[in-house]
Amino acid sequence: MHIWQVGCQMNAADADSLAERCAEIGMRPGAELPDADLAILVTCAIRQHAEDKAASKLGELAKWKEQRPGRAIALTGCMAGEHGAGLLHRFRYLDYVFDMRDTDGFFARLQDTFQGSLEGPVPLPASDRLCAYLPVILGCNEMCTYCIVPFVRGRESSRPSSEVVAEAGRVVEGGVREITLLGQNVNSYLDPETGEGLAGLLARVDSVPGLERLRFLTSHPRNASEELLQAIADLPRLCENLYLPVQSGDDQCLRRMKRDYRAGDYLRILERARALVPGIGLSTDIIVGFCGETEEEFLSTYRMLEEVEFDTVHVQAYSPRPGTAAYRRADDVPLPEKQERLQRVLALQREISARRNRALVGQRVEVLVEGVGERCRPYGRTRQNRLAWLEPGPKVGDLLSAEVVRATAWQLQCA
Ligand code: 5AD
Ligand code: SF4
Repeated sequence: MHIWQVGCQMNAADADSLAERCAEIGMRPGAELPDADLAILVTCAIRQHAEDKAASKLGELAKWKEQRPGRAIALTGCMAGEHGAGLLHRFRYLDYVFDMRDTDGFFARLQDTFQGSLEGPVPLPASDRLCAYLPVILGCNEMCTYCIVPFVRGRESSRPSSEVVAEAGRVVEGGVREITLLGQNVNSYLDPETGEGLAGLLARVDSVPGLERLRFLTSHPRNASEELLQAIADLPRLCENLYLPVQSGDDQCLRRMKRDYRAGDYLRILERARALVPGIGLSTDIIVGFCGETEEEFLSTYRMLEEVEFDTVHVQAYSPRPGTAAYRRADDVPLPEKQERLQRVLALQREISARRNRALVGQRVEVLVEGVGERCRPYGRTRQNRLAWLEPGPKVGDLLSAEVVRATAWQLQCA
């Protein structure tokens, strides 16, 4: 990714922190434009001249974007604060506009589109025009021993559902068709006004007129309640999809991670989810090479992946974070070992994803068209969040049903 920046010291600091966050999710900051897939503009609004510079940079980037499908342009800084999403109308090549005070939504989107592509699908941006991420709970009260989030994001604080519903209504009026409710531990959401949980909030947002799809990320297994699973089964717009990070399939390792559940508890939740919601898409996160992870422990995780057959698995090698409890433990799995485990998970998952996707050939799926790629072929996502390519014709924003004719581990081809 490439960062372009003008303005004061604050913008320089913001550009640095964006580069750092991008590196954390596996992107390469500091790339020159010809090598980059994502350009972020950190803008200034102090004088008209500064805004003109950003406008002319956007003009230049429009050509850059056209040269390769999958490229995206994001804008933040003072112009985002001043004009907000209105910029998406003014500059039609712009994909994302976000506020530096609230970058979580933007990074969740990036992680969604770019991280899955570790060795798979080409990055395809779903722009802010069509899909919106609304943070509903900030911070995290869990204390997973490897995780820095509680230290940098603080304790959980939920936004009143009335505010979330009003914002959902506003973005839908502005043309958004899909909303993802966001939180590091989203299913710990508690409405400060009514005491309602996430299932209640989902029900309220689900009935916002004009909304086509609703999603939520990321959940902790501890709070994956029956009520929540029932909401996925019942609410018409809420997509049949559950992203539930397990981190490890081994009880000893889970204890060292302080995850507060056992592998068996986790499997029972998924079993219940599959019983209540036939065809539900399941995704998870795995950390390999956590402190003290033996080959035997790793194999428990591997076997769990074989048994569950997730649709998507995000796997990371453990990386010690200063200030966390695990930072005081020895990071004793050697890097080559971590990498080998990571590769084993990726290879297994590639096979499983291919098998699961191939089983869809001949079936119809619902696709929301998010963009148009090479050779005018539209692409979008199914309700289970699978990437689907269509024959030329449909436009961005169309919601349609199509038959799957071919499938690989990473994408579906529809007719
Ligand atoms: N090392 C590696 N992966 C981590 N994650 C969180 N902290 C670390 C760490 N220190 C992973 C978890 C989490 C995802 C967002 O990032 O799998 O679910
Ligand atoms: Fe919270 Fe998730 Fe980090 Fe655990 S891994 S502390 S649940 S953000």
